[in-house]
Order: sequence, then C-alpha cells, then structure tokens
Amino acid sequence: MIIRPRRLRNTQSIRNLTSETRLSPSMFVYPIFVREGKNIIEDIPAMPGQKRYSPDTLPRILEKCAKNKIGGVLLFGIPEHKDETGSEAYNDNGVIQNAIKISKREFPDLTVIGDVCLCEYTSHGHCGLIKDNKIDNDSTIEILAKVAVSYANSGADIVAPSDMMDGHTAKIREELDKNNFPDTLIFSYAVKYSSAFYGPFREAAGSAPKFGDRKTYQMDYRNVREAIKEAILDVDEGADMIIVKPAMSYLDVLKSVKEKIFVPVGAYSVSGEYSMIKAASANGWLNEKNIVIESAYSMARAGADIIISYYSLELAEWISIL
Ligand code: PBG
Repeated sequence: MIIRPRRLRNTQSIRNLTSETRLSPSMFVYPIFVREGKNIIEDIPAMPGQKRYSPDTLPRILEKCAKNKIGGVLLFGIPEHKDETGSEAYNDNGVIQNAIKISKREFPDLTVIGDVCLCEYTSHGHCGLIKDNKIDNDSTIEILAKVAVSYANSGADIVAPSDMMDGHTAKIREELDKNNFPDTLIFSYAVKYSSAFYGPFREAAGSAPKFGDRKTYQMDYRNVREAIKEAILDVDEGADMIIVKPAMSYLDVLKSVKEKIFVPVGAYSVSGEYSMIKAASANGWLNEKNIVIESAYSMARAGADIIISYYSLELAEWISIL
C-alpha cells in the first residue's frame, strides 16, 4: 500500500512540527556599515532601509540586534582617509576598531565579527596591494593579518577575511596566535564569486575599484569544483567557519561545499539580493515578508548553518509568526 502525505488536512502547527528545515534568530548575522564621524545616521540610496552609522550612533542599531537575539553583527568600516596601502584598516584607533570597542562595551554578549579587507581603505579600491599593476598576494596577506590582530585587540570575537587572497587564513591564524589571540575565530569568505550582485554594497561602502575589476582574485561563477577546493584549503589553513557568497544564485555551490567540509557554513545574502527584493516590494510586485522568509528557508535547506543578511532583524521577528 502506498501511504500518501496528508498535506491538505494538516494544520499550520503540524506543518511546523514536521518541517525539515528550521530557522532561528541565532543563525542570523547582520552586516552594518560604520563610517567615520560623529552623530551620523545616513541613508544608503541603493539599499533602502540600511544606514551608515558613526561609531557613537551605532549602539542604536546594536540594541535592536541584542534585543532580537541575533547571532552576531558583521562590521564594515568606511574611513575618512584612504591611501595606496589601506593603512587606516589597521589603525588601532580606526573606525572599525572604535566600533568594535563600543559594541563590546555596550553589548558584551553580542558577537562582533569584523570584516577584514582593504577595498574600503585603499585609494584604488582593490582588496589588496598593487605592484606593477597587479594585486600582490603575499604582501597583502601580511597587511590583512595586521588588520585582524588590530580587530582582535579591540575586542572582536571573530574576524572575517573577505579579500580572497591565497593563504590569508593561515597567515591570519599565525599572527593571531603569535599575538595571544588564540580564541579569536576566523570566519573566512572561502568561496566568494566575482559578482554583479555586490553593486549596492560598493555604493554603500564606497569601495568600487577605480580601475579594472576583481575577476583576478574573486571566483568565476561558472565553477563549482573550484569552490570545494577553496573551502577545503581554507579549512585546512584553520578557518573555523566559512562563507559562500552570494547566496540565492549559488545554493548549488553551498550544498556541494557543505557536503565536503566539517565546519559551519554561512550563506551571505548580498546587497544586490536585498535591493532587488526591496525594489520589487516597493512597487507592490512581490510580498516582501513572504519572499524574504522563503529565501532564508531555501538557504537553510541548501545547508546554510549561518545566514548573513541585511534582513536579519526583520527575519528574527518574522520567523516566529509562522
Ligand atoms: C569586501 C566585500 C564586499 C562585500 C563584502 N565584503 C564587496 C566586494 O567584494 O566588492 C559585498 C557584500 C554585499 O554585496 O552585500 N571585499
């Protein structure tokens, strides 16, 4: 006899009980843009609803994150001063360092993740140092490790290198350990594609490259086995968790990576995914809440243990209404 699923007669509560996939506020990470200055909360036109905060106004949004019990915040810095080598990124008094200190002072239990990259800090807008018109991998990872140590020194719980340089995780681990930060975790962007979905972020963070593109160091979206290789390498180098980015168009990648490695995997639902949903909902073409919940479940179904999303605060509330 074939027993048929009794979907039609199920109640919402039975569907909740038998659901194969669950979401929890503790798996959401909320990215926040912090810019230098005082008393600033400014809109980001390409990302309606998202803001840039100065370190002193940051607690207003952190308070909501703590109240919603989300898994953590991912801080991106926008410095006043940029130069060839991105030196503000490892200034112990820099914008992110101050944001981390304020965050840990005001909300000690809220997990703080610092994004480690140079593109917001370099005058040319690339994620690494430039030598002879090329990105110089090995001198870049030295700087990235300095940035990571400076974040750890300010109190960051986790550092998240998003530069896509080879060997960055091993170098960062080595320097963190040397500087007495063995407990600072590394959430590595191991699988980051060169993607048009980052467009709004580059406006938000003022980090668009002034020349060329990031195709030489970010991944080619036609490749998936390469993603598995990148993930395995990063875990071998000491990554405690890894990121696959973007999310929505890359769930096959997420699933393949998840099958091959044994650390938590995060899906980064990037700025372009956020802005597309915002724009369509503003026009009344999509139901924002339903689309956001459905996409978050699809990420979890593909294997995401962590979801980095600009909708984290809404999601933390919305998932409880099902
Ligand atoms: C920095 C960085 C980027 C994003 C996260 N870290 C931009 C880029 O690589 O151009 C994109 C995040 C988003 O689009 O939400 N390297």
